[in-house]
Amino acid sequence: MAIEAVDLVRAYGLGGASVTALRGVSLAIAAGDYVAVVGPSGSGKSTLMHLLGGLDRPTAGRLVIGGRDVAALDAAELARLRNETIGFVFQSFHLLPRTSAVDNVALPLVYRGISGRRRRDLAAAVLGRVGLGHRLDHRPNQLSGGEQQRVAIARALVTDPVLLLADEPTGNLDSTTGESVLTLLEELNVDSGVALVLVTHDREVAARAHRQIVMRDGRIVTPAAVPGARRPEIVDPAPSAEPRRASGSDSGHPSGGSGGAAGATGRRGGSGDGPGSGGGPGQSGGSGPGSGS
Ligand SMILES: Nc1ncnc2c1ncn2[C@@H]1O[C@H](COP(=O)(O)OP(=O)(O)OP(=O)(O)O)[C@@H](O)[C@H]1O
Ligand SMILES: [Mg+2]
Repeated sequence: MAIEAVDLVRAYGLGGASVTALRGVSLAIAAGDYVAVVGPSGSGKSTLMHLLGGLDRPTAGRLVIGGRDVAALDAAELARLRNETIGFVFQSFHLLPRTSAVDNVALPLVYRGISGRRRRDLAAAVLGRVGLGHRLDHRPNQLSGGEQQRVAIARALVTDPVLLLADEPTGNLDSTTGESVLTLLEELNVDSGVALVLVTHDREVAARAHRQIVMRDGRIVTPAAVPGARRPEIVDPAPSAEPRRASGSDSGHPSGGSGGAAGATGRRGGSGDGPGSGGGPGQSGGSGPGSGS
């Protein structure tokens, strides 16, 4: 399994002004999964994505990414885990503006001790895969929105992640371009078995996933409780291993550590439920880079 989360809480800020963005979220993402995360603005979707991607840490709860409990990792170890396991695609691309497409894509490989020449070759190959082999030396401002997003996807893929987290990847694109980006992500899921977790406001997009996680006020509300949401068993489970475990409705396996909500074998003990101690691994650029052009 790629990720297991049990009772995740994320509280921002201290004292009276604090916001509890996640209030006990449990889920599992399996290898090859394709999950859509939906819910109203402010319901905690991006906060959850940042945690699942190791960009931020929970205030409480247990989070296991690629078999490693993030609570046991220091910042450098978490960064390495992220680099080795996860690719991130944001709504506003987050490309370096003065840097060519190929060098943007090659960047995550810098931390791997790979030679510059080889990094460029690998990056060029991935850019070819997303249909941008002819735009290697263009800077972001010389690319269309859809092309920039494909560069961002290539950058997320160049490290060969097992999990791709995409937070409204089509939010800044027109519908045709958005569709081609979405199709690209889905092909990667099917062809390469990369697990895909996608935040979207678009119901039709969400319905294409193997299952949906519906968030409201910092919690997951079960798909069954939401009119129109698809239940996992309706959907073709495609090539993924066992995508349905996580929704927690599988009462047949009460002991399975991978279960959804209730399972919760190894909760992290009493380490305080408040935002008290570890409050601020500050997600520096994390949540608010919105401005993107
Ligand atoms: N760094 C932060 N400091 C304080 N509060 C925050 C911070 N980031 C998010 N929040 C608050 O946490 C809640 C959840 O935010 P989050 O960004 O996860 O929502 P979202 O579901 O992604 O919304 P949207 O659909 O608008 O992107 C919101 O009420 C938000 O104001
Ligand atoms: Mg968001």
